[in-house]
Amino acid sequence: MREQDLSLNRLFEEERPRIQRALEEAVGLLPAPVREIGAYVLLAGGKRLRPLMTLVSARLLGCNAPDLYRLCAVPEMIHAASLLHDDILDEADTRRGRVSAHTRFGLRPALLAGDAMLALADCEVTVFERADMVECVSDAMMRTVAGEAHEIALQGSLSHGEEEYIDMVTGKTGWLLRASCRLGALYAGAEARLVSALSDFGLYAGIAFQIVDDALDFADASVTGKPCGGDLREGKFTPPLMHYVGGLNERERAAFGEKFATGSFSEEEVARIAAIIRERGYDRATRSLADGYLRRAETCLAMLPETPERNVLREVIPFIRNREK
Ligand code: FPP
Ligand code: MG
Repeated sequence: MREQDLSLNRLFEEERPRIQRALEEAVGLLPAPVREIGAYVLLAGGKRLRPLMTLVSARLLGCNAPDLYRLCAVPEMIHAASLLHDDILDEADTRRGRVSAHTRFGLRPALLAGDAMLALADCEVTVFERADMVECVSDAMMRTVAGEAHEIALQGSLSHGEEEYIDMVTGKTGWLLRASCRLGALYAGAEARLVSALSDFGLYAGIAFQIVDDALDFADASVTGKPCGGDLREGKFTPPLMHYVGGLNERERAAFGEKFATGSFSEEEVARIAAIIRERGYDRATRSLADGYLRRAETCLAMLPETPERNVLREVIPFIRNREK
């Protein structure tokens, strides 16, 4: 019975309160001066995809220890801290339709709250006394930072292509989803080939997640809760923009490149380019790029035991592919 009923959506709903409780407990461990900011970014809701991946990965391999929820909170803390820092770097006023943490609480307190959350994530994983799990988390943090630094280095430039973009998003987003799955698999004490299969599933799903995110950047702000065309304003040369620039003649491309490098598009220009991207289906073409990575993710699933949890992971694929916000 449970087998048939287990679905991603049901799991989201069922597990949300327990994941929320684990996150509340984590917030309670933050230093008092940054606790309110931690609560603001960690307890605000969201899909909780990363904790769920940890949970499902562990259960898929036969582990359902009660302290799994404590482990689940680890990737979510890293995720929330990275977005908090990302909003500072991007000078974003809003996140998920709410005022961003640094706008509400001030730059310095927000920066330190992110630092504290990252440090706490590290402390929390040491509780499990497993060097491989600590390594998994530290690696993911390092790769995420490297991916973000890579993106900053590319900002304003039109000179890179899809390959370098993929390299960058693998770091920026892929590694944390990889770690979310890997943590669960490691904790379950699974054999190396299963840990690898789940890690690769997470990595490919994460890459696809970011590609879809970059397609969604040109969707309507009222649906996504994020301003439309942020990547264009910020000089991030993502696949929808690569398609758009590919359709420009030399003169248009030079004019575009100048504004892109200096972040000087007017709001009208941003709206016009976003409309063209949607009309010409460049956002759909971007989702097709994600499909290649989702297929690789699916291949990884074939290496895992046939369990209800594996079906849940299979449902993650269309969830990433089709998400609208
Ligand atoms: C969102 O990208 C940002 C990330 C996925 C990673 C951000 C990473 C850092 C700021 C480095 C610090 C992180 C750690 C772990 C120490 P986006 O700007 O494309 O997405 P958005 O539209 O949601 O802002
Ligand atoms: Mg951002």
